[in-house]
Amino acid sequence: MTSTAAAIATPRQKAAVSVEFDHVVKAFGPVQVLHGVSFSLEPGRVYGLLGENGAGKSTLMKILAGYEPLTSGSLRVNGHAQQFAGSRDAEALGIVLIHQEFNLAEDLGIAQNIFLGHEKKKGWLLDDAAMAREAAAALAEVGLHIDPATKVRRLIVAEKQLVEIAKALSRHARLLIMDEPTATLTPGETERLFKLIAQLRADGVTVVYISHKLDEVERVTDEVIVMRDGRFVARARTADVTRQQMANLMVGRELADLYPPRDVVALDAAPAMRVSHFTVPGWAEDASFEVRPGEILGFAGLVGAGRTELFEGLLGLRSASGRVEIHGQAVQLRNPREAAKHGLTYLSEDRKGKGLHVNFGLRQNLTLMALERYATPWLHPDAERRALAVAVKDYGIRTGDLDARASSLSGGNQQKLALAKVLQPKPKIVVLDEPTRGVDVGAKRDIYFLIQRLAREGLAVIVVSSELMELIGLCHRVAVMRAGRLVTTLDAEALTEEELIAHATGTR
Ligand SMILES: Nc1ncnc2c1ncn2[C@@H]1O[C@H](COP(=O)(O)OP(=O)(O)OP(=O)(O)O)[C@@H](O)[C@H]1O
Ligand SMILES: [Mg+2]
Repeated sequence: MTSTAAAIATPRQKAAVSVEFDHVVKAFGPVQVLHGVSFSLEPGRVYGLLGENGAGKSTLMKILAGYEPLTSGSLRVNGHAQQFAGSRDAEALGIVLIHQEFNLAEDLGIAQNIFLGHEKKKGWLLDDAAMAREAAAALAEVGLHIDPATKVRRLIVAEKQLVEIAKALSRHARLLIMDEPTATLTPGETERLFKLIAQLRADGVTVVYISHKLDEVERVTDEVIVMRDGRFVARARTADVTRQQMANLMVGRELADLYPPRDVVALDAAPAMRVSHFTVPGWAEDASFEVRPGEILGFAGLVGAGRTELFEGLLGLRSASGRVEIHGQAVQLRNPREAAKHGLTYLSEDRKGKGLHVNFGLRQNLTLMALERYATPWLHPDAERRALAVAVKDYGIRTGDLDARASSLSGGNQQKLALAKVLQPKPKIVVLDEPTRGVDVGAKRDIYFLIQRLAREGLAVIVVSSELMELIGLCHRVAVMRAGRLVTTLDAEALTEEELIAHATGTR
């Protein structure tokens, strides 16, 4: 692999970037979310920025990258106080943010997205050829081999993430902020990203790496900085702290076991759902499986293995064929609403695209799938409000304001809201696609225990996840998909990560 940084950095931008936050305060209306944060970043180092959901990591980094103004305090870059009017001001200094929530124009092509606002011109005309060429080079750097003219709408989530990274690389960043970059990536893609980070660092680029995956933070960062409740709480050389210490610093207390004890399921119980010879053309072929009441069934596989598409087909979101029985009855599920009537709900991995209506309020989002319960015959705002108060408590959703829009929640808290939403209709079977993506360790544990409790009450749970340890720790059985085929189903009790990878990659 060629040196990315060398290939894309121009001499003009070789300058190093150092940053100082000085008593940075941020308020959204009456709600203060950053309470005087002070720390500094030196060039050529990789920083892990840690903290629970809602701690203020993304907000602080949006200030640094010019997306949000600060309320008081100051930001100095290379010793000079800066008031960015927008992200282009920050980019002019080489500060680039890769957003936690994708920031792509769905109806434009990949190349158009990469050069949006930075279009290349030949005289008066757009230089499409040059943009396509450079886009292809940036995509190759992140390992995405796809036509740069492809519309973003047609990409799967992991591909969108890679486009975001390629876009940032093409902006010649000298300080690159990655907000949960690997949440949707496979181990292979993650490795490639880590190599990129190492090259950038060798070239003097400062990297801020926000992640809830502490094993990655441990591997890729030089230093960790911990925030809690909108405040700076600690910084340390990564080599000097254990993962457990990082987790404890984040939550401010000792964390107990991450996974609940595994309950025994009655293996002779009639399946809650049986799927036979199910095919989603182009994605999944001839898949057959069943899940019992009380069982937690995992789905492992590489990105592109067809897991998400299999379930999108099952919920009627893609054309598909095959037989689905729910409690012994053959059913036709033409859309998620019909599925919900049969007691089956689905948490999409695409939280922003398909999961939540981010411009709607928290209440509306929560109750959208269970409208019958709140409309008798018209909507009862009070009942909705009570339901939201309960959900906020049960799922630990952190929000300053119950009347806020979903877009005002931090990434991890949006995830908790999405989870509350699909469980709101009280389904009998639930499919959770990446349920803990972007969720902090403490909240992850809460979600695992919640899933276990629901299973105990008789819910059949399917968990699609890229986190192998999560599948092993939480599930009873794990189904493995590879290239559109369900290759095996394994008992999770004695399963190892290596074994699971071997099945997923076909080296077994
Ligand atoms: N536009 C907004 N309006 C109102 N409140 C907001 C807005 N953006 C963020 N907040 C609030 O600011 C706080 C910090 O959010 P932020 O997104 O910075 O957290 P985070 O540390 O990135 O969390 P996560 O790990 O979940 O991504 C949260 O309480 C959030 O609800
Ligand atoms: Mg965030």
